[in-house]
Amino acid sequence: MSPVPTNAATELLTAIKDVGTDPARGGYSRHGFDTAELELREWFTAEAGKRGLDVEVDRNGNIWAWWGAPGPDALVTGSHLDSVPGGGAFDGPLGVVSSLAAVDLLQAKGFKPGRPLALMVFAEEEGGRFGVPCLGSRLLTGATPADVALNLKDPSGNTFAEAVKAAGLDPSRIGKDAEALSRIGRFVELHVEQGRGLIDMDAPIGVATSILAHGRWRFRFTGEGNHAGATPMGARRDPMLPASQLILSARWAASSVDGARATVGRLVPTPGGTNVIASSVDVWLDARAPNDGRTRSVVERITAAAKQAARDEGCELTVTEESYGDTVHFDAALREEVVAALGTAPALPTGAGHDAGILAAHVPTAMLFVRNPTGVSHAPEEHAEPDDCEAGVEALAKVLEKLAAE
Ligand code: GLV
Ligand code: MN
Ligand code: MN
Repeated sequence: MSPVPTNAATELLTAIKDVGTDPARGGYSRHGFDTAELELREWFTAEAGKRGLDVEVDRNGNIWAWWGAPGPDALVTGSHLDSVPGGGAFDGPLGVVSSLAAVDLLQAKGFKPGRPLALMVFAEEEGGRFGVPCLGSRLLTGATPADVALNLKDPSGNTFAEAVKAAGLDPSRIGKDAEALSRIGRFVELHVEQGRGLIDMDAPIGVATSILAHGRWRFRFTGEGNHAGATPMGARRDPMLPASQLILSARWAASSVDGARATVGRLVPTPGGTNVIASSVDVWLDARAPNDGRTRSVVERITAAAKQAARDEGCELTVTEESYGDTVHFDAALREEVVAALGTAPALPTGAGHDAGILAAHVPTAMLFVRNPTGVSHAPEEHAEPDDCEAGVEALAKVLEKLAAE
């Protein structure tokens, strides 16, 4: 009998199923360096230890579990353990548990890597706590400067500097880490698919071709806080009005640009009382498109509409770009090697962002997707069947075996 359970990824996911559940939203709320994510990081560290891997945490809070001596020119695989608010069980954790299960498979067959091999867990990939996605890989690569990151605040007002300090990291050492980055020769991330591509192709596993250009913008509308009953309709400067116009414009602008998407999923009025005209409203826009020009054009149209609506209501508007990343085209040669290791696998693009996309600007990077039968992600309905998860583990093991052989 194989020493590795045939549904190893599912068993590992089951082991963490109670960590960070969110009874109010449903699903999971696990955010960078919060109690749930810290518990998962400890769990991963223990699991890596059981497999004889040497665990270290880099200056930016990313975890590395080394099979053999650390880099250079290492083959690295991994993903993240944090989630969006009320997210699913698979986005992030599937890649992490699959990396552990792939090591199990390789160790069971007596494989010895011919080059350094590491499993990684990236910090705050979703930006669910501090707003900037892929913060761990952005800091590692220098895509986000340390001073910007350290001053980011979570919804409770805690800074990233305070959060990393509480997690045992040194805020003065946060930032670009060329030495750590130089150890990665090639990077492969396994991830649950976040759309319907593999359902439509009737395939359990696929390989990624590209990621949409995407970014996040904060629109702050400022008006005049006042009494809901005592303020006549003609005497108001209500920032909710231009905020609503922005939301409508996002649908209109993205629908008129080929392949574009624009979303408002978060809106915070201050002070937020039912009988209070808000004094200000923060609206976050997530916009994506196949290239930089189209993405910028969508955001410009939305911004123009929001400015006009703010003027019409006598409100002020400030717009802040909180993150941006251009289109990612994954390394074609590495993709061919990955497909060769698998025998065959369909290739497909994705609209979702990933740490692999940040690393792709620095090292050859590839992604494996596992079919999601609901086609839904960033929601509790996100799913992957145990057999498909296992196909993912086997695929990742084949890829690691081939790429780390010498
Ligand atoms: C992360 O999954 C994103 O695409 O926002
Ligand atoms: Mn995600
Ligand atoms: Mn993810």
